[in-house]
Amino acid sequence: MTRVAHGWALRCIDCDTRFESDPPGYSCSRCGGLLEAVREAAGGPVSRTELFGRPAEGVWRFRALLPFEADVRPVSLREGGTPLVGTVNLPRELGLRNVHVKNEGQNPTGSFKDRGMTVSVTRAVQSGVRVLICASTGNTSASMSAYAARAGVTAAIIVPAGKVASGKMVQATAYGATIIRVDGTFDDALSMLLQTISSLPGFSGMNSVNPYRLEGQKTAAFEIYEQLGFSVPDYVVLPVGNAGNISAIWKGFKELRAAGLTEDLPRMVGVQAEGASPIARAFWKGSDSIVPVQSPSTVASAIRIGNPASGKKALAALKESDGMVLTVSDDEIVAARRLLASREGIFVEPASAAPIAALREIGPRLEKDATVVCVATGNGLKDPETIKVEIDGSPLVSDRSGLMALLERVASRNLVTA
Ligand code: F0G
Repeated sequence: MTRVAHGWALRCIDCDTRFESDPPGYSCSRCGGLLEAVREAAGGPVSRTELFGRPAEGVWRFRALLPFEADVRPVSLREGGTPLVGTVNLPRELGLRNVHVKNEGQNPTGSFKDRGMTVSVTRAVQSGVRVLICASTGNTSASMSAYAARAGVTAAIIVPAGKVASGKMVQATAYGATIIRVDGTFDDALSMLLQTISSLPGFSGMNSVNPYRLEGQKTAAFEIYEQLGFSVPDYVVLPVGNAGNISAIWKGFKELRAAGLTEDLPRMVGVQAEGASPIARAFWKGSDSIVPVQSPSTVASAIRIGNPASGKKALAALKESDGMVLTVSDDEIVAARRLLASREGIFVEPASAAPIAALREIGPRLEKDATVVCVATGNGLKDPETIKVEIDGSPLVSDRSGLMALLERVASRNLVTA
């Protein structure tokens, strides 16, 4: 068992047991609850320079708030440092003046998962692990496979058969992972893995129940704070599936406050697809327990999840931040994806368009000048099949005069397809 870094411990969110070494399977060995990394009082305040002083290092610039000793050697692909893009054409659509997109699709494997993976894989390698394993709707597996390749260890991924976007499978294959398909849902795959992982010596689980993953993912909050001129937004809106990311980003903002860098906190707004919305259902019922959705269904395969592993952490984040969870339909997701690409030039996968879909609904009810950050969690190229491409129906030219004639029609906005 590897000792937790000096000044840090892992704590069970259910029974409060404190661990000074990583327990097997990263779950509480007393009650099975979720763990979180806690910076203990000895850590003290952190200055802005200490936290933000190394801009070139991506996620690892935030070492002062990561559970590692100073001499850690990260397994890194220069993840993090993604742009916060202000929107120029959406404000009119949304009735909001100040909407920003945190474009996590610009991470090395095209999703926010890289922020967490660099940290959890670094930890696994420190612990002498030789095989990394995860259950995934696609992005976790693409990311883990890349970091495993980088670290020179083996990657095994478990995915729901036929339910993962093709780009993500292409990535896992290219990075050399062993792909195992489950005849069932993502929830079936994760539950099988979690039941098995503690009895597999030499394996380490890279799903977001691994608290080190969330330590990396919380750094998105630090960047948003810096990119908004060292202030926190009023709202952070993000898609919610297994619920690790909303928990991680909320933790990041709370740590900024605990470090003495801000007094304000944002309201967290989670967005789920209507057909996969167990957290929204619990939230609006005012319940602390999540009833799993047995056959989750949505076009947004990344968040097609019925039994979110970090659901408890997410409900706490929503409550503490005075936030909310909204649901959007598949049609709304598809339309929002098109809108973000065609009006702002930001192409995301379906799940990542859910926040824009939600803002179209609630925008008019928010303060017009509110600062809103939508987290665009994954790159659009990962999921090409959900866009109907009618390339064969577009005009075909074979000579210069044909091209000229066509372009004249384009110029007069009178293009008719052949
Ligand atoms: N957006 C994208 C693009 C995702 O891939 C995921 C999760 C989420 C949002 C939701 O994040 O689970 O932390 O609430 N994808 C996981 C995977 C489940 O296996 O790639 P979450």
